[in-house]
Amino acid sequence: MLITFEGLDGSGKSTQVKLLKKHLIKENFDVLALREPGGVPIAEDIRELLLESKNDINAITELLLFSASRSELIKTLIIPALEAQTIVILDRFYDSTVAYQGYGRKLNLDHIDLINKIASFNIKPDITFYLDILPEDSLLRKFSEKSLPLSFNDNNLPLDRMEKSGLDFYRNVRMGYKEILNNEPERVHELDALKKPSNIHKDVLKKLIPILNASKKTTF
Ligand SMILES: Nc1ncnc2c1ncn2[C@@H]1O[C@H](COP(=O)(O)OP(=O)(O)OP(=O)(O)O)[C@@H](O)[C@H]1O
Ligand SMILES: [Mg+2]
Repeated sequence: MLITFEGLDGSGKSTQVKLLKKHLIKENFDVLALREPGGVPIAEDIRELLLESKNDINAITELLLFSASRSELIKTLIIPALEAQTIVILDRFYDSTVAYQGYGRKLNLDHIDLINKIASFNIKPDITFYLDILPEDSLLRKFSEKSLPLSFNDNNLPLDRMEKSGLDFYRNVRMGYKEILNNEPERVHELDALKKPSNIHKDVLKKLIPILNASKKTTF
Protein backbone atom coordinates (compact mmCIF):
# COMPACT_ATOMS: atom_id res chain seq x y z
CA MET A 1 0.00 0.00 0.00
CA LEU A 2 1.23 3.47 -0.89
CA ILE A 3 0.29 6.41 1.37
CA THR A 4 1.35 9.91 0.38
CA PHE A 5 1.42 13.23 2.23
CA GLU A 6 1.10 16.48 0.34
CA GLY A 7 0.93 20.18 1.14
CA LEU A 8 2.84 23.43 1.02
CA ASP A 9 6.35 23.73 2.48
CA GLY A 10 5.99 23.83 6.25
CA SER A 11 2.46 22.39 6.27
CA GLY A 12 3.58 19.56 8.58
CA LYS A 13 4.07 16.63 6.18
CA SER A 14 7.28 15.30 7.71
CA THR A 15 5.80 15.61 11.20
CA GLN A 16 2.81 13.47 10.17
CA VAL A 17 4.95 10.94 8.28
CA LYS A 18 7.01 10.41 11.43
CA LEU A 19 3.92 9.96 13.63
CA LEU A 20 2.29 7.54 11.18
CA LYS A 21 5.46 5.50 10.72
CA LYS A 22 5.83 5.13 14.49
CA HIS A 23 2.19 4.05 14.82
CA LEU A 24 2.37 1.46 12.03
CA ILE A 25 5.62 -0.03 13.33
CA LYS A 26 3.99 -0.36 16.76
CA GLU A 27 1.14 -2.22 15.02
CA ASN A 28 3.69 -4.65 13.50
CA PHE A 29 3.41 -3.50 9.91
CA ASP A 30 6.45 -3.43 7.63
CA VAL A 31 6.91 0.25 6.86
CA LEU A 32 9.16 2.25 4.59
CA ALA A 33 9.01 6.05 4.84
CA LEU A 34 10.74 8.15 2.20
CA ARG A 35 10.83 11.74 1.04
CA GLU A 36 10.70 13.26 -2.40
CA PRO A 37 12.87 14.45 -3.97
CA GLY A 38 15.49 12.09 -2.54
CA GLY A 39 15.54 8.71 -0.85
CA VAL A 40 18.34 7.14 -2.92
CA PRO A 41 21.83 8.63 -3.53
CA ILE A 42 21.27 9.90 -7.08
CA ALA A 43 17.89 11.36 -6.11
CA GLU A 44 19.46 13.09 -3.08
CA ASP A 45 22.04 14.64 -5.45
CA ILE A 46 19.20 15.88 -7.67
CA ARG A 47 17.45 17.25 -4.55
CA GLU A 48 20.53 19.36 -3.78
CA LEU A 49 20.58 20.74 -7.32
CA LEU A 50 16.88 21.62 -7.06
CA LEU A 51 16.98 23.27 -3.65
CA GLU A 52 20.36 25.05 -3.87
CA SER A 53 19.21 28.67 -3.85
CA LYS A 54 21.97 30.00 -6.12
CA ASN A 55 20.93 27.72 -8.98
CA ASP A 56 18.94 29.45 -11.72
CA ILE A 57 16.80 26.66 -13.21
CA ASN A 58 14.06 27.07 -15.80
CA ALA A 59 10.66 25.55 -15.08
CA ILE A 60 11.03 22.69 -17.60
CA THR A 61 14.42 21.68 -16.18
CA GLU A 62 12.86 21.83 -12.72
CA LEU A 63 10.03 19.52 -13.86
CA LEU A 64 12.44 17.05 -15.46
CA LEU A 65 14.80 17.00 -12.46
CA PHE A 66 11.98 16.33 -10.00
CA SER A 67 10.74 13.59 -12.34
CA ALA A 68 14.21 12.06 -12.76
CA SER A 69 14.59 11.91 -9.01
CA ARG A 70 11.15 10.27 -8.73
CA SER A 71 11.85 7.60 -11.31
CA GLU A 72 15.02 6.54 -9.45
CA LEU A 73 13.22 6.30 -6.13
CA ILE A 74 10.24 4.43 -7.55
CA LYS A 75 12.27 1.91 -9.50
CA THR A 76 14.96 1.29 -6.87
CA LEU A 77 13.00 1.21 -3.65
CA ILE A 78 9.27 1.67 -3.94
CA ILE A 79 8.27 -0.97 -6.48
CA PRO A 80 10.24 -3.71 -4.66
CA ALA A 81 8.80 -2.60 -1.30
CA LEU A 82 5.23 -2.61 -2.58
CA GLU A 83 5.78 -6.05 -4.09
CA ALA A 84 6.92 -7.26 -0.66
CA GLN A 85 3.61 -5.93 0.87
CA THR A 86 5.47 -3.20 2.75
CA ILE A 87 3.47 -0.08 3.57
CA VAL A 88 5.24 2.79 1.83
CA ILE A 89 4.74 6.31 3.16
CA LEU A 90 5.89 9.07 0.84
CA ASP A 91 6.54 12.65 1.89
CA ARG A 92 5.45 14.23 -1.45
CA PHE A 93 4.74 12.44 -4.75
CA TYR A 94 3.42 13.40 -8.17
CA ASP A 95 0.63 15.64 -6.83
CA SER A 96 3.45 18.00 -5.80
CA THR A 97 4.49 18.18 -9.46
CA VAL A 98 0.94 19.03 -10.57
CA ALA A 99 0.60 21.68 -7.84
CA TYR A 100 4.09 23.25 -7.98
CA GLN A 101 5.14 22.93 -11.63
CA GLY A 102 1.61 22.90 -13.10
CA TYR A 103 -0.25 25.50 -11.05
CA GLY A 104 2.75 27.27 -9.50
CA ARG A 105 5.04 27.50 -12.55
CA LYS A 106 2.12 27.31 -15.03
CA LEU A 107 3.49 24.46 -17.15
CA ASN A 108 1.11 22.52 -19.40
CA LEU A 109 -0.97 20.17 -17.22
CA ASP A 110 -1.33 17.47 -19.91
CA HIS A 111 2.45 17.34 -20.34
CA ILE A 112 2.86 17.10 -16.58
CA ASP A 113 0.32 14.30 -16.40
CA LEU A 114 2.21 12.29 -19.00
CA ILE A 115 5.62 12.90 -17.40
CA ASN A 116 4.18 11.99 -13.99
CA LYS A 117 2.88 8.68 -15.36
CA ILE A 118 6.26 7.89 -16.94
CA ALA A 119 8.35 8.88 -13.90
CA SER A 120 6.17 7.01 -11.42
CA PHE A 121 5.94 3.84 -13.56
CA ASN A 122 2.16 4.24 -13.32
CA ILE A 123 2.23 3.64 -9.57
CA LYS A 124 -0.66 5.48 -7.88
CA PRO A 125 -1.09 6.25 -4.19
CA ASP A 126 -3.85 4.23 -2.49
CA ILE A 127 -4.51 7.22 -0.28
CA THR A 128 -3.21 10.78 -0.14
CA PHE A 129 -3.38 13.16 2.81
CA TYR A 130 -3.30 16.82 1.86
CA LEU A 131 -2.41 19.21 4.70
CA ASP A 132 -4.17 22.46 3.95
CA ILE A 133 -2.56 25.70 5.13
CA LEU A 134 -2.51 29.30 3.88
CA PRO A 135 0.82 30.25 2.30
CA GLU A 136 1.15 33.09 4.82
CA ASP A 137 0.93 30.60 7.70
CA SER A 138 3.24 28.03 6.14
CA LEU A 139 5.90 30.63 5.41
CA LEU A 140 5.57 31.97 8.95
CA ARG A 141 6.34 28.47 10.21
CA LYS A 142 9.36 28.24 7.92
CA PHE A 143 10.59 31.62 9.09
CA SER A 144 10.19 30.75 12.76
CA GLU A 145 11.82 27.33 12.19
CA LYS A 146 14.89 29.12 10.84
CA SER A 147 14.63 32.05 13.31
CA LEU A 148 14.29 34.54 10.45
CA PRO A 149 12.89 38.09 10.41
CA LEU A 150 9.40 38.30 8.88
CA SER A 151 10.20 39.71 5.47
CA PHE A 152 9.56 38.17 2.08
CA ASN A 153 11.70 40.70 0.22
CA ASP A 154 15.21 40.01 1.32
CA ASN A 155 17.12 37.97 -1.26
CA ASN A 156 19.76 37.01 1.26
CA LEU A 157 17.41 34.98 3.44
CA PRO A 158 18.61 31.40 3.98
CA LEU A 159 15.57 29.88 2.28
CA ASP A 160 15.89 27.18 -0.37
CA ARG A 161 15.28 27.89 -4.06
CA MET A 162 11.64 26.75 -3.96
CA GLU A 163 10.91 28.64 -0.72
CA LYS A 164 12.16 31.85 -2.38
CA SER A 165 9.45 31.65 -5.06
CA GLY A 166 7.18 34.12 -3.21
CA LEU A 167 3.68 34.35 -1.86
CA ASP A 168 1.81 34.49 -5.21
CA PHE A 169 3.55 31.31 -6.33
CA TYR A 170 2.44 29.51 -3.15
CA ARG A 171 -1.12 30.81 -3.54
CA ASN A 172 -1.23 29.20 -6.98
CA VAL A 173 0.27 25.97 -5.63
CA ARG A 174 -2.45 25.83 -2.98
CA MET A 175 -5.10 26.39 -5.67
CA GLY A 176 -3.54 23.46 -7.53
CA TYR A 177 -3.85 21.20 -4.51
CA LYS A 178 -7.50 22.25 -4.11
CA GLU A 179 -8.09 21.34 -7.75
CA ILE A 180 -6.53 17.88 -7.25
CA LEU A 181 -8.75 17.43 -4.19
CA ASN A 182 -11.83 18.29 -6.25
CA ASN A 183 -10.84 15.99 -9.08
CA GLU A 184 -10.02 12.95 -6.93
CA PRO A 185 -12.09 13.09 -3.73
CA GLU A 186 -11.92 9.29 -3.33
CA ARG A 187 -8.13 9.26 -3.11
CA VAL A 188 -7.23 12.63 -1.60
CA HIS A 189 -8.23 13.63 1.93
CA GLU A 190 -7.88 17.13 3.26
CA LEU A 191 -6.51 17.74 6.74
CA ASP A 192 -6.50 21.00 8.67
CA ALA A 193 -2.79 21.75 9.04
CA LEU A 194 -3.49 24.30 11.78
CA LYS A 195 -4.69 21.66 14.24
CA LYS A 196 -2.24 20.24 16.77
CA PRO A 197 0.04 17.54 15.26
CA SER A 198 -1.44 14.88 17.57
CA ASN A 199 -4.99 15.75 16.46
CA ILE A 200 -4.07 15.70 12.78
CA HIS A 201 -2.51 12.28 13.41
CA LYS A 202 -5.82 11.09 14.89
CA ASP A 203 -7.64 12.32 11.76
CA VAL A 204 -5.16 10.37 9.61
CA LEU A 205 -5.71 7.17 11.59
CA LYS A 206 -9.50 7.53 11.48
CA LYS A 207 -9.36 7.51 7.69
CA LEU A 208 -6.61 4.93 7.36
CA ILE A 209 -7.59 2.19 9.82
CA PRO A 210 -10.60 0.90 7.83
CA ILE A 211 -8.46 0.83 4.68
CA LEU A 212 -5.68 -1.08 6.46
CA ASN A 213 -8.17 -3.55 7.88
CA ALA A 214 -9.65 -4.14 4.44
CA SER A 215 -6.20 -4.69 2.94
CA LYS A 216 -5.29 -7.18 5.71
CA LYS A 217 -8.36 -9.21 4.80
CA THR A 218 -7.45 -9.33 1.13
CA THR A 219 -3.79 -10.13 1.82
CA PHE A 220 -4.32 -13.06 4.21
N1 LIG B 1 0.26 20.88 13.26
C1 LIG B 1 1.27 21.71 13.50
N2 LIG B 1 1.07 22.85 14.19
C2 LIG B 1 2.09 23.71 14.42
N3 LIG B 1 3.36 23.53 14.00
C3 LIG B 1 3.61 22.41 13.30
C4 LIG B 1 2.58 21.44 13.00
N4 LIG B 1 3.13 20.43 12.30
C5 LIG B 1 4.43 20.75 12.13
N5 LIG B 1 4.74 21.92 12.75
C6 LIG B 1 6.03 22.62 12.78
O1 LIG B 1 6.11 23.34 11.55
C7 LIG B 1 7.42 23.19 10.98
C8 LIG B 1 7.30 22.48 9.62
O2 LIG B 1 6.83 21.14 9.84
P1 LIG B 1 7.30 19.95 8.91
O3 LIG B 1 8.79 19.96 8.76
O4 LIG B 1 6.64 18.70 9.40
O5 LIG B 1 6.61 20.43 7.54
P2 LIG B 1 6.86 19.93 6.07
O6 LIG B 1 5.54 20.03 5.39
O7 LIG B 1 7.53 18.61 6.10
O8 LIG B 1 7.85 21.05 5.50
P3 LIG B 1 8.81 20.91 4.21
O9 LIG B 1 7.91 20.91 3.02
O10 LIG B 1 9.64 22.15 4.27
O11 LIG B 1 9.60 19.65 4.37
C9 LIG B 1 8.24 22.42 11.99
O12 LIG B 1 8.92 23.35 12.79
C10 LIG B 1 7.20 21.66 12.80
O13 LIG B 1 7.63 21.39 14.11
MG1 LIG C 1 9.34 17.99 5.27
